[in-house]
Amino acid sequence: MDRRTLLGTLAIGAVGAGLHAKGLGPGAVDAKPAGNPLADYAARPFDFGTGLPGLGKDLLAEHLTLYKGYVGRTNALLKEVLAAERTGQAGPAVQELRRRLGFEFSGMRLHELYFEALSASAAKPSGTHPLHQAITATWGSFDAWWAAFKATCTMTGIGWGALLKDPATGRLMNAWFQDHENAVAVGAQALLVVDVWEHAYVKDYGATGRAKYVDAVKPLIDWRVVEKRF
Ligand SMILES: [Fe+2]
Repeated sequence: MDRRTLLGTLAIGAVGAGLHAKGLGPGAVDAKPAGNPLADYAARPFDFGTGLPGLGKDLLAEHLTLYKGYVGRTNALLKEVLAAERTGQAGPAVQELRRRLGFEFSGMRLHELYFEALSASAAKPSGTHPLHQAITATWGSFDAWWAAFKATCTMTGIGWGALLKDPATGRLMNAWFQDHENAVAVGAQALLVVDVWEHAYVKDYGATGRAKYVDAVKPLIDWRVVEKRF
């Protein structure tokens, strides 16, 4: 499994599965800076073309623009924090920059996990895959898990619904990430995340349409990607 460490000890996602947005096949992009630990992060070239069934072109284009903002601010903050550290600064200004870095970096990575698993030609979950079997063993059935996952995604608040795996035990859990970086289960691996910030759905579904949006996302989840993260 391809694991990423987030914020030092916090691993919330695997991004090695490649892109499944329009025109990009598995493994098309390696998101890791190659060989240079100080290299900037590059916005990954997700392209949803004229939109996805249930998610319009304009909504997705706006969402991708927001994602690029997270990437740019992550790069800027990393530079600012390091410059401060190299000159021995440790006061409130650099402390606040570190807090913002957690927000921006997590926002960047979560969007990559989300977009990477969205596809107009999504693969359905495989009943024979170990992930499917683990879901059934945990919740009783795939449908029961989805009901709980949807309930997670429609919790009050701004954040993300997530299906996580604890790599230490294999245990699955649904989780809620508040904003991007809060209430995260440290060390757990994000198998699936759904963005439920208002920008993810209000344009197409209105402010009260989050449940309809989550229903629309369900058939777009590419289980080839999710299963690869398991
Ligand atoms: Fe978003």
